[in-house]
Amino acid sequence: MRNLLNIIIIFCVCLNWGCTQGAQKREVDSHTTQLSSLFSSSSSCVLSSKANTKSSLRVVHRHGPCSPRSSDNAANPDQDDILRRDQERVNSIHVKLSKKFTDGVRPSQSTDLPAKDGRTLGYVNYIVTIGIGTPKHDMSLIFDTGSDLTWIQCEPCAGFCYPQKEPVFNPSSSSSYSNYSCLSPECGSLSSAGVRSFCSPPDCGYRIGYGDKSFSEGFLAKEKFTLTTSDVFNNVNFGCGENNQGLFRGIAGLLGLGRNKLSFPSQTATTYNNIFSYCLPSSPSFTGHLTFGSAGISNSVKFTPVSSTTFASFYGLDIVGISVDDKKLEIPLTVFSTPGSIIDSGTVVTRLPLKAYEALRTAFKEKMSNYKTTTGLSLLDTCYDFTGVDLETVTFPKISFTFNGDIVVDLLNPVGILLASNISQVCLAFAGNSNESDVAIFGNIQQKTMQVVYDGPGKRVGFAPNGCS
Ligand SMILES: *[C@@H]1O[C@H](CO)[C@@H](O)[C@H](O)[C@H]1NC(C)=O
Ligand SMILES: *[C@@H]1O[C@H](CO)[C@@H](O)[C@H](O)[C@H]1NC(C)=O
Ligand SMILES: *[C@@H]1O[C@H](CO)[C@@H](O)[C@H](O)[C@H]1NC(C)=O
Repeated sequence: MRNLLNIIIIFCVCLNWGCTQGAQKREVDSHTTQLSSLFSSSSSCVLSSKANTKSSLRVVHRHGPCSPRSSDNAANPDQDDILRRDQERVNSIHVKLSKKFTDGVRPSQSTDLPAKDGRTLGYVNYIVTIGIGTPKHDMSLIFDTGSDLTWIQCEPCAGFCYPQKEPVFNPSSSSSYSNYSCLSPECGSLSSAGVRSFCSPPDCGYRIGYGDKSFSEGFLAKEKFTLTTSDVFNNVNFGCGENNQGLFRGIAGLLGLGRNKLSFPSQTATTYNNIFSYCLPSSPSFTGHLTFGSAGISNSVKFTPVSSTTFASFYGLDIVGISVDDKKLEIPLTVFSTPGSIIDSGTVVTRLPLKAYEALRTAFKEKMSNYKTTTGLSLLDTCYDFTGVDLETVTFPKISFTFNGDIVVDLLNPVGILLASNISQVCLAFAGNSNESDVAIFGNIQQKTMQVVYDGPGKRVGFAPNGCS
């Protein structure tokens, strides 16, 4: 059985990485391998070659054999846990975007919160490794398209540093580190990115909160960042966090990829023109990439405009329709246009306005009527039990999203549409928002294996299939 699984997994590598035309074709025909690809049962990591190209960083899932902290498997959360925390992140995004939470900063009386977990960012599940300082120290960072300020934990951890895999960065042992003063324009510009600044004469202090109890607090500084041997940046502005809390466990900090000028892509715009792309791997057993600049962008990328609505750091998109097996669901356009939509690298399950979700669920259930349904999994209410089913015969409908500009993006079947604990509980990986004024979020399950391109100057986001290969 184990051998058979390994063979299936090796075959999946071919499918996902598009080894040959033949493999591509079989992806359509062979549902056995597809269904198996939902269960990341491989205990070893399969590297994608893509990350070896210039200006590319390897992206790994935080939990799984490719993670630098994989020895820590016992601490891996189960699906239920992941989904619960995903909902906490989504709640905080909704609050932030509904303006109840105006600047992303917690009121000062909350500073002394107990060291309870802030979970919003804890489940941003994809990380990259960047060299920081001179001499450089490799640090694993969560990357987040939903925020701007890059920060890492710093010695002497005057407040609190949670445990991390790599040694905590010590600015006093780096020759390229320097603080910003309170009077610097950089300090003055923090507030425009929703980051609070304060003065600890002569140094500029920052505090960034993430809508719940997670935060990082410390000093605004600049430092040398080494992405690859050829891509080295002096004077990258970042937060040296001496008081950090939240479920970032094991991770040195966060790489901010948001839209504000404080974000890493904005700061490196003279080199990369504020363009980056990534591919999130199909499972934790594979790697993806985060690539800065326009190198490697597929000719087949289809672009949709970033919507003009001001969504803080977030990249707004306009979902205009959803199709199941190429049949467009009947969803009035206002269902999407009223709340608007964003794309987020850190939200796991795509959230839709309730009416849109219900239409999708109905169409999906119709196509799946031959299979046995089972109980829901946390926020997922449409689940199937394939125990005893001849997996060769299982087929899933194709789900496609239409974005503004009439671009149609097919989600990878089935890893882009399903979430499974095991063969007896395989669930449709979408959920409805409870309030129709809450923004829709195109989440990271749905983005799997696509090349997702963020083109700052072009004010557009694009998608192409087979982005990890
Ligand atoms: C940066 O500022 C912090 C806080 O004032 C201070 O402890 C540290 O020594 C400063 N580092 C440098 C290199 O000036
Ligand atoms: C499958 O996963 C669900 C949810 O985690 C769990 O309740 C169930 O016991 C599992 N079933 C098997 C056969 O492992
Ligand atoms: C939905 O959200 C809006 C805006 O945040 C709020 O005013 C309204 O009360 C909410 N409706 C419900 C039913 O919760």
